[in-house]
Amino acid sequence: MKEYGIRAGGLPYPSTRQGKVTSKSPSNIALIKYWGKYPEQIPVNPSISYTLNQCHSETQLYYKFQEDRKKKFSVQFLFAGKSRPEFLTKILVFFEKISPYCPYLYDFDYTIKTNNTFPHSSGIASSASAMSALALCLVQLEQKLGYILTTEDYLQKASFLSRLGSGSACRSIYPGLVIWGSHKAIKGSDDYYAIPYPYEIHEAFTNFQDTIMLIDEGAKKVSSSQGHELMHRHHYTQKRAESAYENLERLIPILKTGDLESFGELVEHEALSLHAMMMCSRPYFILMKPNTLHVIEKVWDFRTQTANPLYFTLDAGANVHLLYPNEYKNMIHPFIREELLRHCQLGHYIEDSCAYA
Ligand code: DP6
Repeated sequence: MKEYGIRAGGLPYPSTRQGKVTSKSPSNIALIKYWGKYPEQIPVNPSISYTLNQCHSETQLYYKFQEDRKKKFSVQFLFAGKSRPEFLTKILVFFEKISPYCPYLYDFDYTIKTNNTFPHSSGIASSASAMSALALCLVQLEQKLGYILTTEDYLQKASFLSRLGSGSACRSIYPGLVIWGSHKAIKGSDDYYAIPYPYEIHEAFTNFQDTIMLIDEGAKKVSSSQGHELMHRHHYTQKRAESAYENLERLIPILKTGDLESFGELVEHEALSLHAMMMCSRPYFILMKPNTLHVIEKVWDFRTQTANPLYFTLDAGANVHLLYPNEYKNMIHPFIREELLRHCQLGHYIEDSCAYA
């Protein structure tokens, strides 16, 4: 692995012995889904996502040098002001995984405070924003400790570390359309970190809205990690990976020419493929709820009747992400309020957009 300016020698550190770093990182919504992984969080297939503007995690990392080098990590963790042992466990696993690339980790006591701008219980995946925000704090700490990083290396290392916390988190480091996973048609693409989409993007795709219909609030019954795990002994893993790989290649001219219709077809196909994999794994799961299907059917009918470019995608859960260009908002919002909102469990939805300033 690239050394990202890691200083040889480690201790003693320069003047910075205690302090605080902060960062803010968004969630993202995949258009071509990462589904299935090899050891070390290497994805079975390349993926692409839109980084979101509104849903993000804000993290503060307090660090204090401690003279006696320990073999265990010393971390306190507060989420929205409360200690959450289940999240702390994840952070300790994350620290363990990244320790070969962050040799200073054992030398400090840490207090980590995190808040999300979106409800944690909403069923929106928070691991992408949370892990990327923490990784950004860590690379800032590295800079303070005198590890010299160029801006490019800084972001690449943040992405590399985020990946080890949660695969999809590595894409949250960059705004806009972001690729993770090596693909022969995408220059610079890599299994170890994400890169900003490197080719031409038609303006039709630089102003997308993502309205997230909260069909089912509360913790997911099947985690993404369990879903990835199921792909290890799945009959269709290879075919699914090939399909995602082909979809990514097909997306390049679509993004260039602004072909909204083909974009929608491809994105919906991806979402349904992911759910199809879950439905025919062993054990099998249905992650959609009846209301997920009601929303999808209404989106299809609306599109047929009005020709408005309204498409959906799904995470590994029941919530529906509605994707559409911002200029159609006036037509689409009344439809969402009048027809779709009634299918949200508690009548909640989240308005977000994809990050192109
Ligand atoms: C369906 O990144 O949450 O959202 O690497 O185990 O943390 P881990 O999984 P995670 O999986 C995300 C799956 C997905 C698709 C995607 O975001 O690409």
